[in-house]
Amino acid sequence: MCGIVAAVGSDNVLPILLEGLKRLEYRGYDSAGVALIEAPGRLGRAREVGKVAALERLLASAPLTGLAGVAHTRWATHGQPSQDNAHPHVSGRVAVVHNGIIENHLVLKNELVAEGYAFTSETDTEVVAHLIERELQRRGDLLAAVEAAVARLEGAYALGVIDADRPDRVIGARHGSPLVVGIGEEGYYLGSDPLALLPVTDRFLYLEDGDLVEATRTGCVVHGWCGNGKRTPVVREPMRYEHDDPSVGKGEFEHYMLKEIYEQPVAVANALEGRLGSDQVLIEAFGPRARQLLGETRQIHLVACGTSYHAGLVARYWIEELAGIPCQVEVASEYRYRDVVAPPGTLLMTLSQSGETADTLAALRHARARQGQAYVGALSICNVPGSSLVRESDLSLMTHAGPEIGVASTKAFTTQLTALMLVTLGLRQLHGGDGELTARLVHRLRYLPTLLGDALKLDAEIARIAQRFSGYRHTLFLGRGAQMPIAQEGALKLKEISYIHAEAYAAGELKHGPLALIDASMPVVALAPMDGLLDKLKSNLQEVRARGGRLLVFADPESGLEAADGMTVVNVPACCRFLAPLVYTLPLQLLAYHVAVARSTDVDQPRNLAKSVTVE
Ligand code: G6P
Repeated sequence: MCGIVAAVGSDNVLPILLEGLKRLEYRGYDSAGVALIEAPGRLGRAREVGKVAALERLLASAPLTGLAGVAHTRWATHGQPSQDNAHPHVSGRVAVVHNGIIENHLVLKNELVAEGYAFTSETDTEVVAHLIERELQRRGDLLAAVEAAVARLEGAYALGVIDADRPDRVIGARHGSPLVVGIGEEGYYLGSDPLALLPVTDRFLYLEDGDLVEATRTGCVVHGWCGNGKRTPVVREPMRYEHDDPSVGKGEFEHYMLKEIYEQPVAVANALEGRLGSDQVLIEAFGPRARQLLGETRQIHLVACGTSYHAGLVARYWIEELAGIPCQVEVASEYRYRDVVAPPGTLLMTLSQSGETADTLAALRHARARQGQAYVGALSICNVPGSSLVRESDLSLMTHAGPEIGVASTKAFTTQLTALMLVTLGLRQLHGGDGELTARLVHRLRYLPTLLGDALKLDAEIARIAQRFSGYRHTLFLGRGAQMPIAQEGALKLKEISYIHAEAYAAGELKHGPLALIDASMPVVALAPMDGLLDKLKSNLQEVRARGGRLLVFADPESGLEAADGMTVVNVPACCRFLAPLVYTLPLQLLAYHVAVARSTDVDQPRNLAKSVTVE
């Protein structure tokens, strides 16, 4: 992943670069670096292992200044986090920051070593710096040098490049990794995400794959493909960033994750806004092609990664039961490399908070390339307008969760589920489902934000339970039906931020293996809403108790489950079984959060992870 920022302005750009990096830390935070043109011909560079705060401390003791610079926060792919591997990478007059992966870096490295270039890092990026330097020697112009260099690259990249001899400009390049241009009063900026640049502008150009951009203090020129295999100056329309700046702070909350957990009633209300009629969902509000696409759909391939994948797994239960449409769900990293069979009438649905996840994007492109005829189209459910996924899909339903900062996804998940329920009901309406149940669910959806607010009232009780829980090393999560993916999501949340090993099983699978793990040191978390599977689940819980397992059950107040020796029961607000996956998610998020706090981990930026995975 990694985050990049570049700036050229009328004043020292170091503060803008550092603030930008801090705002991009969600993309990776194992090391950070900055390079500035301190005077014509003189590059200054600082790199440090750890978070941006460590780089800031280094710069406080040895400051750098300059009117143009590039900066980077890293999530290691090639080479461990170290000062040598941190970006920017420098070759002669050239400094480069890179987000992505250069797949042919070894071939290029051999070529450059043979020509006498010395490598000082284990990264794939360093070849880019040397390639640009070599081309700069040959061509004398940085833009031409970058253009020649990127022509040799295979893989994905967003680049920021400076030339020490030209303190008046920065060059950017985008291919497969996100990059935007910020248009400011005092300069022009590049960033992996508009978020990085909100302190200096709210106007952005969204670059497209293949674009190169040359920015100066007063303007920029984008060079894009023009159809004949050559680049020419192209127009990319400036767009205003419409959201509030989410980085204004955590408010009363100790962590972004907790703030985002608490934002869910409002976020879900936003996801519903304007999309519910009196007793139907408003399909037209999904977008101009929605009625046609959903109407022609005969089956669905739902593709996503991580938490978004879990939302897809829940939706399968809804879509098949409520709309009668076959639905298969798959992680994007598998779907993209499979000889997928898509019968005519297949709707490809991608789910992604960021809209930039490399595997999800690749799955979309793979589907289009393989079976263009069979797919009725591609629908994305996404939280980031203007993201690659949104731009490449035929139809996008925005989740309106607002920016999510905590690496562990919370409100993005519940708003995805909300959007998926809307799509399910849209499909049901178009495919002849009985209107009475649709109307009932529409009414219940209106009440969903209140229900989520009620679920948050369990916070203090769960915080107390978490104190006990934090001493365990392993956990099992159990659910049945649409609660099975919620158990998976609960386990993922716990392992992501508390580093406790957690696994999820369909409760019916318990006796086929995991039961062997059960003893007093293995707590089992179970989800017990009122549904047709409650009695089956109760039998599974007995199997755990009989073997001395410790149970923590989140249950409907009417479930008949009561606390007993070795069994803690938390009553979750009563809700209809279709919406129960959303309601039961919140206590699991709170459990993971409080366990992580009790274990003093870095809740918002857990080790080894990143929020937006734009590399494969
Ligand atoms: C990363 C994040 C997860 C997220 C997944 C998919 O692994 O840490 O929280 O669920 O990527 O991201 P997406 O933006 O496609 O939903």
